[in-house]
Amino acid sequence: MIGKIVKTSVAVLIGASVAYAGSFNTQAEKDRQALVKYMEKKFSDPAKNKQFFPYATPEDFKNLRKGVKFEEFRLGSYAYDKIGRAQYNDINEMPPYEDNIDAGEELYNKTKGIKQCFPDPAIAGEYPKFDDKKGKVVTLSVAIDDCLKANGQKPWKLTKGKMADLEAYFAHMSKEAGKKVHITIPSKAAAAAYERGKKNYYSQRGYLKLSCATCHVQGSGNRVRREFLSPLLGHTTHFPVYRLKWQGLGTLERRIKGCEKNQGENPHKPGGQWMSDMLYFMAYMSNGLPVDGPDIRK
Ligand code: HEC
Repeated sequence: MIGKIVKTSVAVLIGASVAYAGSFNTQAEKDRQALVKYMEKKFSDPAKNKQFFPYATPEDFKNLRKGVKFEEFRLGSYAYDKIGRAQYNDINEMPPYEDNIDAGEELYNKTKGIKQCFPDPAIAGEYPKFDDKKGKVVTLSVAIDDCLKANGQKPWKLTKGKMADLEAYFAHMSKEAGKKVHITIPSKAAAAAYERGKKNYYSQRGYLKLSCATCHVQGSGNRVRREFLSPLLGHTTHFPVYRLKWQGLGTLERRIKGCEKNQGENPHKPGGQWMSDMLYFMAYMSNGLPVDGPDIRK
């Protein structure tokens, strides 16, 4: 009898905790599905959905593709900017980042501790992670630096150089293995970090009073000077990127610093809580998309 009660209550407890664990991402999942729906609708036929493109010229509508599929959003603005996509395809015939992948592989094999910290290199789609012991979001760059420090070495810069090379190798291995972005929200504290990140993304800042969303949600597909703005959906799938403007490779942190400057703001510190929470939110929004790094951008 007692045995039976114990067994049932344990079963009930386990059942409850499973239901509970699944519920930490309820809000995030609602947000993600709404974003996917919005982007798919907007780019199903831009010329027919003019309300989303208040400043577009007839030429802009001619240049915007119709029927953009979910998986194509990993391509940023090249998902719908026809001219940009053609230039992108040309550059990709001789990808300028191949040496970076090789350099990253060498760093993976030769840097003390790295292989032990990351036995499987196909992990680009799993970061940022929420670390419940540390009570904070850990981006891939921060995880790499934590590993270096634990092995008595100097941490690397989070924005370029060795960090970008090693991340290029991780991204390449993930892409080869067919991995998708897979961000989890394992606890209440993780859900709170996600919410903070979302708030950071949508808050208007700097003297221009712009939010990231102004340009990359509502603004996606609209043109700023000669560039079509890319969508939040897919933003974290393809980093690090080789930018023609940089003539080199940079991490997601580096890219965002640049956007914050354009936004009229002092950039937040890469690796700090503000930026890491925001990256956690951004990466969750790309859940289910294929990992597609490293890549090239103008
Ligand atoms: C004034 C408009 C504007 C604002 C505000 C803005 N960006 Fe951008 N962002 C751009 C432009 C222009 C580009 C280059 C073209 C493109 O890919 O959209 C870009 C590119 C990016 C990219 C690279 C896209 C890719 O495909 O690789 C990321 C990531 C990004 N922005 C994130 C952010 C984040 C995060 C914020 C808020 C902190 C932000 N942006 C705020 C205009 C903006």
